[in-house]
Amino acid sequence: MELYDAMLKRKSIRKYADKRVDKKVLEELQNYITELIPLYDKISVKTIILESNKLDKYFENSCQIHAPYYIVFTSQEKTWFGENIGFIGEKLIVFLTSLGIGTCWIGTLKPSKTAFELPYVISIAFGYADGELYREGLEQISRKSIEQICLKNSRDNFMNELLQAVRIAPSGINRQPWRIETATDLIHIYCEKPSFLTPVNSDNLKGLMPGVILKKMQGVSCGAAIAHIDMCASYFDKEITFSRLQDKENVHKKLTYLLSAIIKKK
Ligand SMILES: Cc1cc2nc3c(=O)[nH]c(=O)nc-3n(C[C@H](O)[C@H](O)[C@H](O)COP(=O)(O)O)c2cc1C
Repeated sequence: MELYDAMLKRKSIRKYADKRVDKKVLEELQNYITELIPLYDKISVKTIILESNKLDKYFENSCQIHAPYYIVFTSQEKTWFGENIGFIGEKLIVFLTSLGIGTCWIGTLKPSKTAFELPYVISIAFGYADGELYREGLEQISRKSIEQICLKNSRDNFMNELLQAVRIAPSGINRQPWRIETATDLIHIYCEKPSFLTPVNSDNLKGLMPGVILKKMQGVSCGAAIAHIDMCASYFDKEITFSRLQDKENVHKKLTYLLSAIIKKK
């Protein structure tokens, strides 16, 4: 399956078949990880693939999602490290989906103190799905509308595809913290600023979440949305570069400016 189709059809898989993934697929995944270009190449990242029976060795708590394998991300905690991991992780998720493998981001694991060389960020569960792997269609997807995520909009056909790609990205507790402004050949990406304690009300989590935890989760989620922009541009054969534009800093009080995608004119 094409990566773009996999991106449109992906959904979180929470039930896995008790079956090992083919050795060839694991090798392909390892090669894909080695060749993947991150969003920020100045941040050291170490990606580890663990079989489920090794989780106990690295984490204090157990995972509520039982999968045969986990991808574990550790990273230097430099500015934008969360966005960088979200970008890398979502590319791996879409790649695995294209190979018929189910995935789910896991934000609840707590690493034991000496588990990893670099600080732990987040994990992804993966394996063969026990049930339907793909989303039927985008009609029933539980997401904000484009109008809700887009602050300013000058749309053409390709811009509509980019906005849809952002809209359907996965996010922690499905918060969809991204906000977008578009202009001719430009798309600016912002993230909601969490408050000290933010009320959350999702299917499996209710209550007040500390801002520092939410900030990391939202960074990863926005990185995933940026990966969707990148994959959408590749599919439509458009060249884009990601850059931080100085005049976009501090434009919106309640939003952090992340970066802009600049679409090259052909
Ligand atoms: C940063 C991040 C953390 C997540 N953590 C969890 C988690 O701990 N457990 C879980 O079941 N799903 C987790 N998810 C998956 C989201 O709940 C899911 O992406 C969202 O509800 C949208 O559903 P979909 O992925 O099926 O489109 C996480 C997603 C992201 C991006």
